[in-house]
Amino acid sequence: MPLSINQIHNGDSRELLKQIAPNSIACSVWSPPYFVGKEYEKYLSYEDWVGMLQTVIKHHHSILKPGGFLVVNIADILCFQDPTMPRIQAQNLRRQRCDITREEVLAAKSEHPDYNRNQLATLLGCSEQTIDRRVNGNNIRGGKYNTQTRVHLVSGLIEDAGVAAGLYLYDRRVWMKDAAWENSKWHTLSYRSVDEFEYLFFFWKPGETVVDRDRLTSAEWVEWGSRGVWRMPSVRANNDHEAKFPIELPRRVIKLLTAPGETVLDCFMGSGTTALAAIQEGRNYIGIELNKQYVASASAACEKEAKKRAVVTQHSGNEQPAKTARARASESQTGEQLALIKGSA
Ligand SMILES: C[S@@+](CC[C@H](N)C(=O)[O-])C[C@H]1O[C@@H](n2cnc3c(N)ncnc32)[C@H](O)[C@@H]1O
Repeated sequence: MPLSINQIHNGDSRELLKQIAPNSIACSVWSPPYFVGKEYEKYLSYEDWVGMLQTVIKHHHSILKPGGFLVVNIADILCFQDPTMPRIQAQNLRRQRCDITREEVLAAKSEHPDYNRNQLATLLGCSEQTIDRRVNGNNIRGGKYNTQTRVHLVSGLIEDAGVAAGLYLYDRRVWMKDAAWENSKWHTLSYRSVDEFEYLFFFWKPGETVVDRDRLTSAEWVEWGSRGVWRMPSVRANNDHEAKFPIELPRRVIKLLTAPGETVLDCFMGSGTTALAAIQEGRNYIGIELNKQYVASASAACEKEAKKRAVVTQHSGNEQPAKTARARASESQTGEQLALIKGSA
């Protein structure tokens, strides 16, 4: 039985994607677990996580409509602890309250090889912490006894998985979000930047794509439709889910890449953001989510949103969402779509 539309299904995407009707999804937009230690991803090892992304992306080739899109939102940078990374050594010059240099400490040590830290401190007139810091340094990310954190890029992994699935990387946009100032430990003791953007990778399934410039207003084209950087504040109230994206993110993708009445998929549905955007924009949706509680709360939110929308359409005397001329034309051609992709349209 194929998964029904306008419902959030509880289960593992690696399995449930097999139950989506072939060539039925106009656009799939999602943000997977990032492998950053969140509660909902603790069941995955690093290898499982990589394997999950590859499997999920692979399933998209059959379920996307020809000419349809998969849009993956993810941070390009993955930080993980690596015990093999040398634990050296940031000197924070601003914080250095005492003029004793490393060279002076090393000279005193070689003159008095039997002196311990306290004795060296008394000799040089400083604290024993100063002796320790000058000799052993500080860890770049706080606490010299902690394992260092290294950085790994995720984009290559995502691109490879798309290509292996028979999809083509078509575009990449940047979501400029709030700067993560709470990571201040990083930049007081390192040269690392704060985390403040993520990517959206657009993959295309070969086939004719409808390019309908009327889906957006002229202002929308100027502000974001044709722009590589999307500025959208992060979600501040994470009361129902710990890692929501702003509704504006799936809304833009949906408006840009699908026509009213088409079906949008999110196979890591979380709190239901993509489904809510789909309802508001008059599209159908299919959601998949592993966590039962998220499924329940997201489904309740969708039901409420669908009722709200029904009232609005009733009042405006318009049962069906408004369709642009080209969307109607594209539907009447049942998949024999109009123009080709960006650059050739
Ligand atoms: C980054 S969150 C998505 C948040 C969502 N975009 C929102 O705005 O609420 C990733 C979600 O994937 C779910 N998840 C993890 N592994 C999964 C799997 N194998 N299949 C389906 N969902 C999964 C998690 O429970 C989590 O809710």
